[in-house]
Amino acid sequence: MDHFLSLHDVDADALTRLLDLADQLKRAPRTFARALEGKSLAMIFLKASTRTRVSFEVGMWQLGGTALFLSSRDVQLHRGEPVSDTAKVLSRYVDGIMARVFAHQDVLDLARFGTVPVINGLTDLLHPCQALADLQTIRERFGRLRGLKLAYIGDGNNMAHSLMFACAKAGMDFACAAPEGYTMDRQLVADARQDAARAGTQILETSDPLEAAEGAHVVYTDVWASMGQEEEAEARRKAFVGFEVDDRVMARAAGDGVFMHCLPAHRGEEVSAAVCDGERSIIFDQAENRLHAQKAVLVTLLGDPG
Ligand code: CP
Ligand code: NVA
Repeated sequence: MDHFLSLHDVDADALTRLLDLADQLKRAPRTFARALEGKSLAMIFLKASTRTRVSFEVGMWQLGGTALFLSSRDVQLHRGEPVSDTAKVLSRYVDGIMARVFAHQDVLDLARFGTVPVINGLTDLLHPCQALADLQTIRERFGRLRGLKLAYIGDGNNMAHSLMFACAKAGMDFACAAPEGYTMDRQLVADARQDAARAGTQILETSDPLEAAEGAHVVYTDVWASMGQEEEAEARRKAFVGFEVDDRVMARAAGDGVFMHCLPAHRGEEVSAAVCDGERSIIFDQAENRLHAQKAVLVTLLGDPG
């Protein structure tokens, strides 16, 4: 693994190794206190963040390294400086780059033109760090991944795409319920279908949330308007009527089915407050596991071999 840009690029064995390492890092963090001693990570944020920023920064510190927070106000990127120059310059200073950007092409270009590992901290297309932490959380809860079903209800966005890849790689069935006009990217669905065929799992697309949720071990949702889509929020609220995850949707899930959300959540829009804060909700376990899962990615990519 040279970079962590999409779970589509991570093979099933490497994924299991990452999840095992994430569990180890969670159980015995001090064992890794010097794993990245003297190493530094540049963190480019062209969009807002609470979880990603804090978990990467604290994670680097806990591993003995350091992290630099570079917001759009601080860097010359997209103020005229090409991504390729930013990648080449940062590669001369730091041991890794984590980037949260709009265009997915930007993380591809950072990886292409830089000489250090690049981690995708969210693009308009994908959010693999969140999906990795989610797999860790699901495995903790159910003791396995293979054979489980995840139902994603809402916008066919970066979270939907990364969860679709995560499920296909982990041997889980995936169902997505989205309204017409807000379905997932066709090319990414085709890519994930290849992964799913290899793993022998199902990918279902529907416009019926209740059909998607049927028998699901995990019911997952995300905001209807992602970062960068603020002006569409009102139109989206109308388009997504009937897509709120509420008790009626959760009633279709498996008896031990849980509710998940990458956060930030809008209670009363994509999820009811009762479900979001209810007994079946494991949203804060997910948020915690961002720290452990990303430390596993950092140790794997930035750590000295052997
Ligand atoms: N889930 C997630 O990535 O949260 P932030 O936007 O707060 O980083
Ligand atoms: N789909 C959301 C995820 C936030 C973590 C967004 O891109 O804003």
